[in-house]
Amino acid sequence: MKTSSEYISLEDKYGAHNYHPLPVVLAKGEGVFVWDVEGKRYFDFLSSYSAVNQGHCHPKIVDALKKQADVLTLTSRAFYNDTLGDYEKYITEYFGYEKVLPMNTGAEAVETALKLCRKWSYQQKGLAPDSAKIIVCDGNFHGRTTTIISFSNDPDARAEFGPYTPGFINIPYNDLDSLKQALKDPNIAGFMVEPIQGEAGVFVPDEGYLKSAYELCKQANVLFIADEVQTGIARTGKLLAVDHEDVKADILILGKAISGGVFPVSAVLADDEIMMCIRPGEHGSTFGGNPLANKVAIAALEVVKDEKLSENAERLGIILRRELSNFENDMITLVRGKGLLNAIVIKPKNGKEAWDVCLKLRDNGLLAKPTHGDIIRFAPPLVITEDQLMDCIAIIKKTILSF
Ligand SMILES: Cc1ncc(COP(=O)(O)O)c(C=O)c1O
Repeated sequence: MKTSSEYISLEDKYGAHNYHPLPVVLAKGEGVFVWDVEGKRYFDFLSSYSAVNQGHCHPKIVDALKKQADVLTLTSRAFYNDTLGDYEKYITEYFGYEKVLPMNTGAEAVETALKLCRKWSYQQKGLAPDSAKIIVCDGNFHGRTTTIISFSNDPDARAEFGPYTPGFINIPYNDLDSLKQALKDPNIAGFMVEPIQGEAGVFVPDEGYLKSAYELCKQANVLFIADEVQTGIARTGKLLAVDHEDVKADILILGKAISGGVFPVSAVLADDEIMMCIRPGEHGSTFGGNPLANKVAIAALEVVKDEKLSENAERLGIILRRELSNFENDMITLVRGKGLLNAIVIKPKNGKEAWDVCLKLRDNGLLAKPTHGDIIRFAPPLVITEDQLMDCIAIIKKTILSF
């Protein structure tokens, strides 16, 4: 067995430097815990960016993977298989849509939704060829394909990757007037939004924003597209974050926790009027809808309901925000979030920043990662118990006080 620093050197030497990980090398996970190669245990407060909502290595999900792996793993979509139909029935009934299009990663699902929206706009809305525009929000994070970074404001994601894909209009997030203005353009096909902007630092829009945005889209005959890759699957205290405002998106984008972090699975859900615009050969993926993914996703979605993860996220999120908001100190300037998708904003102290806080949290047995310099996201697996959460809050307080 190598040491942590040996593993880090290996990645450094042989891997592309497209990430800047916190220096900790993980070798094992179970529930809310992960262990490094030296055997030290940590609370996972990132949950692989909300992919591991059901907890690490959930036995029911891993069992589904193992059983299917012995039987049939991949057929491609050139042939039917005996798992896809059951999965499609299960997930569409689960979320209340007529059809699903299975993909693998979040970014692929976003691409799928954008293509679907454009197709719909030509076939159903009657826009002239190649004229469709899709409204997106400043501060968005929808992945990192060439089209998706074309409408990102993040210089790291965008710079020197041009030329960019046209057909997108950026407006400020949480700003209904700007949306109203943008919707006056008759060539708008859709509005794509994160119900809470996760990567931007857990920006929660004003209450009523999503509902009003949805209604404005309806008035303009424009599709409301919800990217719930990070906010979906119980993370914010409801099955979907749009459920907080009783909105049913025209196109729903899911990824990450749809498999409990066991396998790359993503999905786009819509009703027939939209989904049937896509015909054979127009979109797909070799691995999308593969037997392993289908079995894993059913198991992972069952766990969300069986273990009442939405309810747990809602209840414990309130406790987490209350405890951190009431904690007197001059380093945490803001606490925000919904359910168990939360963030704190750090004011640097004696030259120590959010990164230093995360290093100290690691030393004290809790893993979290800064985003945009001064924000730390707190998003533990949703299977966390109240006692475990109180232990974590104690670690966070002790860490902050040590500065
Ligand atoms: C809202 C949102 N959309 C899309 C993605 C991209 O997902 P993936 O990394 O699986 O491509 C992410 C990833 O963090 C996300 O948070």
